[in-house]
Amino acid sequence: MRTDGLAMTTLPESTTAAESLDPFHPDAEGAYAAWRERKLDSYLSSLEDLVVDIDDGLHLSQRETADIHRIVARANIVIYRLAEPGDQSKTLVRQLGRQLGLQQLDNNLCADEDSITSLRVVEKRRQGEYIPYTSKRLNWHTDGYYNTLDKQIRGVILHCVQPADQGGENAFLDHEIAYIHLRDENPDFIRALMQMDAMTIPPNILDGREIRPQQSGPVFSTDCKGHLHMRYSARSRNIVWKNDSTTQAAAECLLNLFRSDSPYIFRHRLESGQGVISNNALHCRTEFNHDNDSNQGRLLYRARYYDRIAEVARQR
Ligand SMILES: [Fe+2]
Repeated sequence: MRTDGLAMTTLPESTTAAESLDPFHPDAEGAYAAWRERKLDSYLSSLEDLVVDIDDGLHLSQRETADIHRIVARANIVIYRLAEPGDQSKTLVRQLGRQLGLQQLDNNLCADEDSITSLRVVEKRRQGEYIPYTSKRLNWHTDGYYNTLDKQIRGVILHCVQPADQGGENAFLDHEIAYIHLRDENPDFIRALMQMDAMTIPPNILDGREIRPQQSGPVFSTDCKGHLHMRYSARSRNIVWKNDSTTQAAAECLLNLFRSDSPYIFRHRLESGQGVISNNALHCRTEFNHDNDSNQGRLLYRARYYDRIAEVARQR
């Protein structure tokens, strides 16, 4: 008798052999069950398990690199702590990414000229209209959910140069865990959220000019290598969910997960010299204190990539 569960699964006739082996395909019950068991068995259960100490971010050691890959393979998120928080430049962020296969930077509307964004409270009108540039609470999302489907964000580095005096705590949730939660609740939730028109972002119009067109797409999809990708925002404003009861129930199920005390939600306030590297997992942020009269505010560098974290050949 086979023990991988595949022989016991009856698939719809329309399912191809490749789909039957894809754990994220909603009809591949056997492949999903096997993947789910492996995922949950190897999951890291405490925040400290997600942390890697780094001596020099410009030159990762073999051990540090291996630890990062090991943690990301299990949780899609790793938190790093620099031994010397003194050198905190965008060069460090870019070099850190390169060593982990993160090369193709996304140049979003508010990024600086070097495509890395300085996240700080700004008074300027354009950036000030986006919550990441205010001190307000930032709801659960994955980065770049409004990007076109050929420019989805698959990897993110968030580096803390200067935390807020108070607040600004992040929470993180592996999007593969969110997928499991939904599929266990009702596999039709996955089918609904894989629809190409499951979630629509209306166009971004500034001063009567469209600076980003309407963008529809799935919440869950897989890339060419079969990795799960999630495109999501919990914002109730400016998000249009497909008008069918299953899609809307799936969106509600996700909100209930975020409101729960799930042990899979990790909460951490980044200190100076710390950062998060992720395969664009779900995250949010609490509000924080900001003194408009002070130049010493919370400052994070954010780099968004079209790549996932991957092993790269080390240069000799
Ligand atoms: Fe974000």
